[in-house]
Amino acid sequence: MARWNARKPNLDSGDLHPDHRLRRSLGWPHLVALGVGAIVGTGILTLIGVGADRAGPAVIVSFAVAGLICACAALAYAEMATMIPASGSAYTYSYVVIGELVAWIIGWSLILEYSLVVSAVAVGWSGYATPLLEGALSFPLQWARGPELGGIANFPAMFIIFVVAGLLILGTRESATLNALLVIVKIVALVVFVTVALPYFDPANLKPFMPYGFAKSMSGDGVERGVMAAAAIIFFAFYGFDAIATAAEEAKNPGRDLAVGIVGSMVACVIIYMAVAVAAVGALHFTRFANTPEPLALILRALGQSGAATYLAASAVIALPTVLLAFLYGQSRIFFVMARDGLLPIALAKVSRRGTPVRITLITALLVAVIAGLLPIDEIAALANAGTLAAFIAVALCMLIMRVRAPGQARLFRTPAAWPVGIIAILGCLYLFASLPQKTQLYFLAWNAIGLGVYGLYGSRRSRLDR
Ligand code: ALA
Repeated sequence: MARWNARKPNLDSGDLHPDHRLRRSLGWPHLVALGVGAIVGTGILTLIGVGADRAGPAVIVSFAVAGLICACAALAYAEMATMIPASGSAYTYSYVVIGELVAWIIGWSLILEYSLVVSAVAVGWSGYATPLLEGALSFPLQWARGPELGGIANFPAMFIIFVVAGLLILGTRESATLNALLVIVKIVALVVFVTVALPYFDPANLKPFMPYGFAKSMSGDGVERGVMAAAAIIFFAFYGFDAIATAAEEAKNPGRDLAVGIVGSMVACVIIYMAVAVAAVGALHFTRFANTPEPLALILRALGQSGAATYLAASAVIALPTVLLAFLYGQSRIFFVMARDGLLPIALAKVSRRGTPVRITLITALLVAVIAGLLPIDEIAALANAGTLAAFIAVALCMLIMRVRAPGQARLFRTPAAWPVGIIAILGCLYLFASLPQKTQLYFLAWNAIGLGVYGLYGSRRSRLDR
């Protein structure tokens, strides 16, 4: 019989069959690199243009709001990841702290998040890669863009997904080391952007500062705008540290290393993003780069800095795959842990001799490539955000519940001011969810309705907790 509220014991993975165990191969530098590698990506490089369209120059405020909420959630993640250092992040914490049904909903939301982030980032990658390729080939590749831009499908986005899936299948350790090198490329590119664009700062570009108001409201063209509507999209730029938590089972020293990885990468990213956002809206009026496929390169070109623009675009093309790597990795692990718990078919949990779950990686890559090929980036990112917000709310809730249930239990990382931080994370995420486009909210509910069907027909009967 299904026990929807059954909780999973907080066990180490030592009792598992070797086929279902992951290798402990990651140290803290790998984890910080995994974190920054997962966080800095399409959000700052591409969605800054969507954010500017939704909020005007006040997109700077949107960055601050989304960053604050994410930082609070990151603290809760760090505390939970060091208390429950097992793969599965928000899904596993919910299973241990709240119960199976909530864990299922969160796991199902994480599957949505991780899959759609891969799709959205691949679309962002192609936004920078396609113009470079067109320049090199000297002929337009109009057919290779998404249908909303008048093409057949976004083939470059699909291509990069398969390349990254191949890398992952070759093994975690090799991919994580390559990832660390590419992270440096990405950070240098953003520093170059700020250094080149900031001297062009003109206060006139900041007027009108908040053309669409603060709260979400419908504009004449049928798009929901406002500072919060932009924050709900820009939120995409800040997450990724949760990908570190999903690697907990593969960390050499999960306690200290995870906290350093999560908190350190989050703080670094907030600082970089604020600098990029101020430089971008100050250098060029937002109407000129809003909703474009490669806004930061466009800004540099408009300033007459085409060399820097090409450098930035090339860096994005080389380094954005680190985000794909981290999320495709996280996705296969979530699937893996849910399957190992019996909630999804166990055949999916099989790990190859190289220590990676090959089947899940391949299935995921196929599905997310189709989505990346056919849908526009803002819609994909908004839905990914919905899944992430659900997970963040659950993690902050788990942290507060554990503070009440087990106040004396050892915590390798204790969130300072846990109650205000936890409450800001929960209410902030709810407000961001309310600020997403209505269509996205409905899609998210539909996804979870399907999920509950799958749970009722499969997971609730096969759960290993029932054996
Ligand atoms: N934060 C990641 C990005 O912006 C998902 O690409």
